[in-house]
Formats: sequence, structure tokens, C-alpha cells
Amino acid sequence: MPILKISGNVRPPGDKSITHRLLLIGALSQGRCILRHALRSEDSQAMTSALRSLGIEIDDEGGGSDHVIVNGKGLQGLRKASAALDCGNSGTTARFLLGALAAYPFESRIVGDRSLSGRPMKRVTDPLTLMGAKFCYERNDGLPVIVKGGRLAALNYGSPVASAQIKSALILAGLAGGVEVAVEEPERSRDHTERLLAELGQDIQIQPRSVRFRPGAEVPEFDAEVPGDMSAAAFLIAAAALAESGELVLERVGVNPTRTGLVRVLGSMGCQIEIAELGSALGEPIANLSVKAGELRGVNISPSDIPSLIDEIPVLAVVAARAHGTTTFNGVGELAFKESNRLELLGDNLRRIGVRVDWSDDSLIVHG
Ligand code: S3P
Repeated sequence: MPILKISGNVRPPGDKSITHRLLLIGALSQGRCILRHALRSEDSQAMTSALRSLGIEIDDEGGGSDHVIVNGKGLQGLRKASAALDCGNSGTTARFLLGALAAYPFESRIVGDRSLSGRPMKRVTDPLTLMGAKFCYERNDGLPVIVKGGRLAALNYGSPVASAQIKSALILAGLAGGVEVAVEEPERSRDHTERLLAELGQDIQIQPRSVRFRPGAEVPEFDAEVPGDMSAAAFLIAAAALAESGELVLERVGVNPTRTGLVRVLGSMGCQIEIAELGSALGEPIANLSVKAGELRGVNISPSDIPSLIDEIPVLAVVAARAHGTTTFNGVGELAFKESNRLELLGDNLRRIGVRVDWSDDSLIVHG
């Protein structure tokens, strides 16, 4: 059944990746941090609860607004939790906490739900071990993990995976531990942590596929808007792209280029998306996006595009199923390590609704 018309204005919820970073870096800051339009979700709640267990006061009642206030206690301010830190379904919470807690001389037990417990953690704890932290796994390569941190050594790391979670966990260890960290990655992953630290006065050099961080002074308090989440906006953008008419405006969305792969790919497929930049918050550009349907054609997506649309591949594959011709996603092996095996489930489910689709360990081909 065709989507006839989609029009209107919508402001998506705050960006999840940025909310996580502002919560944790806010906790390590020296004062009262205000996060405006912060995301409220189970994942951000997992980070909030864990930080509270580590002694940080967070007000997320907002007094009728969508503000969250984090009362930072400085780089050495986290305290040993009296119970395990439950990250629920949130991989970002687990991996970021492993990084930050690597610099603290006490034990923390990190646990998660069934799906999270099956996701790889050694990709983060291996390089943290090189820095000097200790980890104890109860099972293979998943949670629960006990982290025992302490004095850290500097790290110069070539990550085998393009992952902002790995890169950020290492930078957070460097920040809390006061040691230099350099990370190189095979493709450029999202750079929210780097932009935030640069805006907060830290010495961090960002190159297309590497970052060098020399921690300096304490982190000051901040007051900033959280841009709208591109990953949440993606579903509405996709619906508007598939509609036969109409114009949908998504307001105040984060348009950091490391997150806008979906917009670029839909544009090359023939969808008309206009970006009206509105300014920026803590180094993150914010814009209104207006989306109009167009005749869509299949495209070839290369491995270097993948990190900038990693969470949007499922919805983009659905759009590709309605385009003329074939869309090939190359370099998508990381999808197997998300909350579910997104590559296999995507292939299976598209097939079930009648789409011709092929996939291998590292590619997905959708015949429109
Ligand atoms: C995230 C990075 C991505 C993404 C996840 C959030 C982040 O993971 O899939 O939803 O906030 O850094 P990887 O960078 O590990 O691919």
C-alpha cells in the first residue's frame, strides 16, 4: 500500500549518543551541567542510574521542562557503588563506564540484560588492559564484567573496528586517568566525544580517522541543548521519502557529518532533503531538515559511508526495497554485534515480506 502524503513539522527527541556523553562528562565536570532537550529513554536512564550509584546527583525531573541537571564532582569524583551497575540494554552505557571506571582504584561490577550480556566487551577492555586496568569476566566475552582500575599508562591504539564506543571509552579513560590517548580507526566513526571535549577546552586533535587526546585541566560546567536525534528522525525521514506527496520538516536535528550518512544516501537515491543550519551547541551543528519525496533509485553504499549511518541501515534497507534497482550496502559486518544480529534479522524479515534480498558476512543487497 503506498504512503500517500506526509507533511507537517516534528521535533525529534534529544540525541541518544550526545545525551550519554553529556551525562557522563557532566558527572566528571566541576559543576552544575544543564542538558536541555536531553533524551529520556531506558538507555539514558541506565546511564543516569549507574552514575547515581557512583555518587553523582542528577535531577531528571526537569520541573515540567525537558532539562536534566547533572552535578559534576570533578575528574576524580566517582565513588564505589554498593551494588552492580546495571546497564540494561545499553551498550553505550556499559562501554563508556568500563572506560571511565578503568581510572578508579576500586572494583565495579557491570551487568546488563540478556541481549547486552551477549555483546562483545573485549574490544573495549583489551585496549584498557594495555593501559593498566584489570577486568574479570565471568563468561566468555560479555557482561558481567568486574573492572578494577587505577593508575593508567598512555595508549596509542589502532582499533580493528570503526567504533565510536571503543574510541570514546578509551578517551574517557584518558580523561579520568589524566593520560594521553591516541586512537586510529579503519573508518571514521561518530565524533561527538571529541567535539564535546574540544568545546570544553581540552587538547584534542581530530583527524579523519584518528584522534589524539592530551588531557589537561578539569572539565568546566556547561549548559547546552541536545540536538534532535538523527537516528530517531530517520524513521520519519524514510516515511516522507516514500510518500507520494507532502513535505515533512524535522526541527532542530543534529547534523554532525559523522551521523548524516542517511541524508546523503537518500539524496543520492533521488529524495529531496534540504538542510537549513540553525547554529550549534557544544560543537554539534543543528538544522531543520525538510524532506520531499522523489523518484527513488538504488545506489551502491561503500564501507566508508557505513559508520555514519550504522543505526539507520534497517530503515534505509526498507526504503531501498521500494526504490528502482538494486541497493548494495558494503562493509556492514558490524551489524551482527548490535542489540540483535541486525544483518541476519533484516535479511530474514525483508524476505518474509516479499523483498528479494541477499546478504553475506559483510554485505547486504536489496533488490528494489
Ligand atoms: C554509538 C555508536 C555506535 C552506535 C550506537 C551508539 C555511540 O556504535 O551503533 O548505537 O553513541 O557511540 P559503534 O560505534 O560501536 O558502532
